[in-house]
Amino acid sequence: MRQCDFLELAAPGVRTLQPYQPGKPESELRREYGLTDIIKLASNENPLGPSPRAVAAIQESLHELARYPDGNGFELKTALAARLGIPPETITLGKGSNDVLELVARAFLTPEHEAVFSEYAFAVYPIVTRAVGAVARVARANPADHAMPYGHDLEAMGALISQRTRVVFIANPNNPTGTWFSPQALEDFLENVPPGVLVVVDEAYREYMDPADLPDTLGWLERFPNLIVTRTFSKAYGLAGLRVGYAVSHPHVADLLNRVRQPFNVSNLALVGALASLDDEEYLVRARTLNEAGMAQLKAACDALELSCLPSAGNFLCIDMQRPGQEIFLALLARGVIVRPVDNYNLPRFLRVSIGTQPENERFIQTLAEVLAA
Ligand SMILES: Cc1ncc(COP(=O)(O)O)c(C=O)c1O
Repeated sequence: MRQCDFLELAAPGVRTLQPYQPGKPESELRREYGLTDIIKLASNENPLGPSPRAVAAIQESLHELARYPDGNGFELKTALAARLGIPPETITLGKGSNDVLELVARAFLTPEHEAVFSEYAFAVYPIVTRAVGAVARVARANPADHAMPYGHDLEAMGALISQRTRVVFIANPNNPTGTWFSPQALEDFLENVPPGVLVVVDEAYREYMDPADLPDTLGWLERFPNLIVTRTFSKAYGLAGLRVGYAVSHPHVADLLNRVRQPFNVSNLALVGALASLDDEEYLVRARTLNEAGMAQLKAACDALELSCLPSAGNFLCIDMQRPGQEIFLALLARGVIVRPVDNYNLPRFLRVSIGTQPENERFIQTLAEVLAA
């Protein structure tokens, strides 16, 4: 057989990449362990399921499946623009916000350029940066005894910005740590970034934040034309499986992102589902309320089990297991509870647990207590 070292053939940036590690799907656990009673708190999904409005709209659109979607997403962009009070030409749609993060890398990064992000930042930033051969400059994060332990240190990030920097990725709040910034800290950072450096503020979990901590990122766009805000329908809007997200930016930036966007990147069902859930305020309120209650439930359980957790403004909690998280992860898995180990983030003692429904949280807590006592 003719042998070929495909690794040698791969683009240099791709050779050292590790694939993104998704949460374990329930179906895999069913196959591997023969379990049937499974809960998954591993991918920061919305435990409410999708908005009924999205389901109804999708059902009504099923007959459209033989057609390509509207490649410009006119209706969804128009509705988003009206809701957010922004011009439609500032919006770039993606199949999830991950897609938009990749568009930023493809449009602005080259092997001659650098992207800056923090240690423990969302795993997609290094992937999209290195995949295009650009250099990742990783800023050290806050120390463990900081008020936002392991969170981004904006000063350290700013210090890494050089002539070669084209993009800075900031997650607010960040996954997997859950840490966030005061609006003032973020605004001060933007004031000091050179105008030729694009700053992506990733707001995947924005809807879960305390209103007092919400930055007016869209309102800042005029003052900071180098700002790109990314948001998603995957989390509070409960449409992770549909894959819709978007960026809001200066129209010239949006034009460049759209040049590298695949035609029809967002499916027709995704477009109608997102459109239908956009104004489902009642659903959003339920999602937030459930998350707040679940967060309190999990935090109280951590206190009772004498486990500390990182502060979180998202729909998940990063818990310090005080021993290798993998051990606990596997023991939970064997009992049908899927959570997320974060050793790939260099946080080997932690587990990230997504907030579920009250009974799901309860089951996680009981199972964890059992595992810790074993
Ligand atoms: C911080 C952050 N940004 C972006 C995303 C991407 O989500 P999606 O591609 O589903 O919009 C995630 C998903 O986990 C995330 O945690």
